[in-house]
Amino acid sequence: MSTIHRYDVLIIGSGAAGLSLALQLPSAMKVGVVSKSQLAAGSTFWAQGGMAAVLHDRDSVEAHVADTLSAGAGLCHEPAVNFTVKRSRQVVDWLVSQGVNFDLREDRADAEFREFHLTTEGGHSHRRVIHAADQTGRAISEGLATRIAEANNISLLIDQCLVDLIKSGSRVAGAHLLSADGSSVETLHADAVVLATGGASKAYRYTTNPDGASGDGIAAAWRAGCRVANLEFNQFHPTCLFHPDSRSFLITEALRGEGATLHLSNGERFMPGFDQRGELAPRDIVARAIDHEMKRLGAECVYLDISHRPADFVMRHFPQTYERCLELGINITQHRIPVVPAAHYTCGGVLVDQFGATDVPGLYVVGESACTGLHGANRMASNSLLECFVYAQSAAGHIAESLVARQTALSPWDDSRVRNSDEEVVIQHNWQELRRLMWDYVGIVRTSRRLEQAARRISLLESEVAGYYARFQITRPLLELRNLARVASLMVECAAGRTESRGLHFNSDHPQQSSQARDSVLIPPNFNSETALPGTTDQLPPYQS
Ligand code: FAD
Ligand code: SIN
Repeated sequence: MSTIHRYDVLIIGSGAAGLSLALQLPSAMKVGVVSKSQLAAGSTFWAQGGMAAVLHDRDSVEAHVADTLSAGAGLCHEPAVNFTVKRSRQVVDWLVSQGVNFDLREDRADAEFREFHLTTEGGHSHRRVIHAADQTGRAISEGLATRIAEANNISLLIDQCLVDLIKSGSRVAGAHLLSADGSSVETLHADAVVLATGGASKAYRYTTNPDGASGDGIAAAWRAGCRVANLEFNQFHPTCLFHPDSRSFLITEALRGEGATLHLSNGERFMPGFDQRGELAPRDIVARAIDHEMKRLGAECVYLDISHRPADFVMRHFPQTYERCLELGINITQHRIPVVPAAHYTCGGVLVDQFGATDVPGLYVVGESACTGLHGANRMASNSLLECFVYAQSAAGHIAESLVARQTALSPWDDSRVRNSDEEVVIQHNWQELRRLMWDYVGIVRTSRRLEQAARRISLLESEVAGYYARFQITRPLLELRNLARVASLMVECAAGRTESRGLHFNSDHPQQSSQARDSVLIPPNFNSETALPGTTDQLPPYQS
């Protein structure tokens, strides 16, 4: 029989949200940080453009809030936006104190107070995106990983995959993890569990996300009894490299921030015809415009051009993009870059309050898995990393103040009634079918009929997956497929329930935006209204002032 491991706090996920939360918990707490792959395997490591923060004298909290509300198409929760933006400078100070290096303005390098180099992206009215060239996520991941390695109270549980949360009564009491070699399931007890498992963009055939973005935390929280919200708002990044040897390489929006323009194959620039902000309109607008032009012309891609900027400027600010494209034969200082939109970010997620707390006592969700109300119907570029750090900090504070040690008896995992699977090929097939279906039926432009068809097909697929889960030894691909199918189904349910077009959700049967903005809140069958977050069941919880 396997032993039961005990932690005060168990954090599932080692991206920006998980690592920063772990580092801000009291050092007296025994903390476990789990990653289903290597430490830096989540989206955080791949973040390019940077993190939005109010740092320049001419910028203001009010301006950042107003831009976020405008990009969010009327669905952002203003208290959440204020809460986040007001803490942006503090987050930058904390990251710098942890050893994360951001680019500085070269022209001010000798000044008494050195200034960060700030870039811009779609929707921002000021330069406010702090960055480390075009590898901001790497700088953050590596900086925080160094601090984690120095912390005596934090254990890293690498290559272990969350199977499901364990509850004791209405509270969360721990988690089951599939071991690195897949041969056993460990039982972990914890007084608080934090899900920081990132988004679910792997639900789509083409995505900028690394493998593993299969919505595991969102699905596990739903199964545990948490409400989810606004999952129809999956963000498509307008510019993913279009090349047969590189399907998911993001071409950062900061290129457009520094003057790159979008063109059709005949050289025509098309964005000004869609929005007066041109290439720097919010992402939903740019992605939809590209999709429209590609469909209208039957084109495989459009082109992004930065070749008019000096070559040394491009190579200095975008070294990773330059190198990656050059490897594929595209010199971006001379030639335009073929790009297509791809699934990028899950704006909705598990409904949480300002501390990342959920409907299940003891369970917190932070980072891309959460729905805080910050992003509304469309996330503004570079607000995601900011959200990870702000809510990780407030969740850490809440856990530090409220954690109570509990001695709960947990049962180990029981796999006595399952056998080894000889059906891996079917799991592979279903995985591909699901992602193709989501791309074709629940993509940038939706129709009510396609959403109905998607719901029917995903339901069949889910029941097949449930059959495997009940009969066979679990494997990581099976767990991911089970979670992805659940989240895809929740995405479609949210999308079908929204009879308007808003932000990232465009339904050509309902092209108008309704005068009233409402969240899509889904309630799980095992929802417990007695332990749920305050407020009405169909709304995001109110913030305390
Ligand atoms: P992640 O960083 O995705 O980490 C998830 C963690 O959970 C990983 O450690 C993973 O192993 C673990 N995990 C998942 N499932 C399980 C499981 N079942 N068991 C155990 N562990 C599990 N945002 C910005 O603000 N600015 C940018 O410039 C920017 N650029 C981006 C570029 C790219 C290419 C991508 C993909 C995203 C970008 N984003 C950007 C979005 C941003 O990077 C992410 O939203 C953010 O990093 C998410 O952080 P996270 O901590 O929530 O999750
Ligand atoms: C990018 O660099 O274009 C990604 C920024 C983001 O997703 O916020």
